[in-house]
Amino acid sequence: MSDLTFNKVAGAVLATGLAIFGLRELSSGIFGHEKVEKPGFAVEVAAETGGDAAAAEVPPDWGTVLPTADVAAGQAVFAKCQSCHNITNGGANGTGPNLWGVVGHKPGSHAGFAYSPAMEAFAAKQPIWDYEHVYEFVKNPQKYMPGTKMTFVGLKKQEDRINLIAYLHAQGSTLPIPAPNPAAATAPAAEGAPTATGNAEAGNTTAVAGGPAGQGAAAPAGGAPAEQKAPAAQH
Ligand code: HEC
Repeated sequence: MSDLTFNKVAGAVLATGLAIFGLRELSSGIFGHEKVEKPGFAVEVAAETGGDAAAAEVPPDWGTVLPTADVAAGQAVFAKCQSCHNITNGGANGTGPNLWGVVGHKPGSHAGFAYSPAMEAFAAKQPIWDYEHVYEFVKNPQKYMPGTKMTFVGLKKQEDRINLIAYLHAQGSTLPIPAPNPAAATAPAAEGAPTATGNAEAGNTTAVAGGPAGQGAAAPAGGAPAEQKAPAAQH
């Protein structure tokens, strides 16, 4: 009797232990692999398509962004183009064509440059390099115009491309800047600059509206610390 009971208990314990062990092995076997591979892959795809889609779906409103773009920053971005492109009036062609006045100009038409068939095909259907097309082209030239001779990786940042286009536009372009279209831009962007200039404008507005009291209130918030920093940096 007692022997039989012992055997039953021992058997049950053994079976339970085996079952738990087996389940753990099984689950780690299944989830171990899936956990490593799937989430990493999914995140990467989501991030990439998300970024691409966002940039492609919301083109800037040129009438809004160009007047406030940073031309000096655009000139700095152009350093990446300078190994191939001269942009002075009458400057020579290099690996790429001279770019003076290119915004608003017919694609593939700079004198003395041998363009690729891809660029010639593009020029046949696109009469001018408007803001939108330069913007898309420099983002990823090879992808936008397969077969182009422009072997440049592209400018991923939207801000870089906007500033660059403002700089290109300042170099001999006669293409007018369209009137702002607030419907196409987001409300805060249309109202003022989203970056540092926004702070300066907010400070000014406060001072004008509130008089001496307003200035006093605004100074500790924005003006005073900035003014203190500047002389300190110079001495
Ligand atoms: C590695 C050399 C190289 C770099 C770097 C380069 N380009 Fe180009 N670019 C070319 C070549 C070559 C062409 C002619 C493409 C063709 O014929 O397919 C070209 C064509 C162009 C055109 C069309 C010109 C026309 O007459 O239709 C524009 C606009 C342009 N590049 C802008 C830029 C900008 C802006 C940058 C920097 C962000 C840049 N490129 C960087 C080589 C380069």
